[in-house]
Amino acid sequence: MKAFLNWLKKAWNFLTYTVQCIRYYKSIQRTGADMSAGQLVDAIFHRWGGILKPIQVPYEIRLFSELVEKNQPQTVLEIGTANGGTLFLFSRLADKNAHIISIDLPMGLMRLYFFIRLLFFKSIPLSGQTLNLLRSNSQKLITKKKIEKILNGKKIDLLYIDADHSYEGVKKDFELYSPLVTPGGIIVFHDIVHHPSGTTAHLAEVDRFWNEIKTQYHCVEIVENWNQWWAGIGILTKKHLNPNIPKCNKVI
Ligand SMILES: C[S@@+](CC[C@H](N)C(=O)[O-])C[C@H]1O[C@@H](n2cnc3c(N)ncnc32)[C@H](O)[C@@H]1O
Repeated sequence: MKAFLNWLKKAWNFLTYTVQCIRYYKSIQRTGADMSAGQLVDAIFHRWGGILKPIQVPYEIRLFSELVEKNQPQTVLEIGTANGGTLFLFSRLADKNAHIISIDLPMGLMRLYFFIRLLFFKSIPLSGQTLNLLRSNSQKLITKKKIEKILNGKKIDLLYIDADHSYEGVKKDFELYSPLVTPGGIIVFHDIVHHPSGTTAHLAEVDRFWNEIKTQYHCVEIVENWNQWWAGIGILTKKHLNPNIPKCNKVI
C-alpha cells in the first residue's frame, strides 16, 4: 500500500510538472534578455508556478547574478542542473551568443520525466546561444572527455560547481574542470557555509574544501548569514596566487 501511494505521488508530481512546462515554456522563452539580474532572480523565485525555483538564498543569488551580468561570460559550465533555475539565469545573463553546458546525473528509471525536462530545458537558451545538456556523472573521466570534445579547444569563462557536496566530490569537480577555465575566468561554489552535522544536509562539506582552496586565489564570498547552516556562494578568480591578497573580500 505504501509503495503504491509513493508511486501515485510520483505520478502526480510528474503530471503537474509536465502541465506546468507546457503552460509556461513560451512565457519563459520570451522572458529575459532585456531584464536586469534582480528582475530575473525575482522571476525564477516567484513566477511559472515555481518550476524554475533555484535552491538558493535570494539575496546571494541576486548578488552573484549581478556579477555574471557584468562579466557576460561566453562559455559556461554548470555542474548540477537540478530544476534549471541557475541554468535559466546563466542563459539570460551570459553573452547573447554564449555556449552553455550543464551536467546532471542520469535519471535511471524516470526516463519519461527526464525526457520532458530535457525538452523543457532545451527551450531555455536565447536564439544565438548553444546549450549542451549532459546526463552523466561529472566525476567520471569520460564525462570530462565529452566536455572537452564539446568545447573543441574553447576555454570556460564561468565554472559553476553545485553537484556532489561531499568533500571528495567537490574536490574532484574542481580538479577535473578548473584546468579548463580560462585565466581570469571564475570558478564558483555553492554551499560554502558550514552545515553542522546532525542537520539533513550533514554530508555537505563544501566549506571544508572551500577553506582549503580560497586562500590560493583572489576570491569573494557572498553569504547572507554565516549562521544560516546552508548556501553561501564562493567565487575564485583564476589568476596566479597573489600573496598580497591572502583572504577573501567578504560581500555581506
Ligand atoms: C543542489 S542541486 C543544483 C541546484 C541548481 N544549481 C540550482 O541552484 O538551482 C545539485 C544537483 O547536482 C546533481 N549531482 C549530484 N552529484 C552529481 C554528479 N556527480 N554529477 C553530476 N550531477 C550531480 C544532483 O542530481 C542535483 O540535481
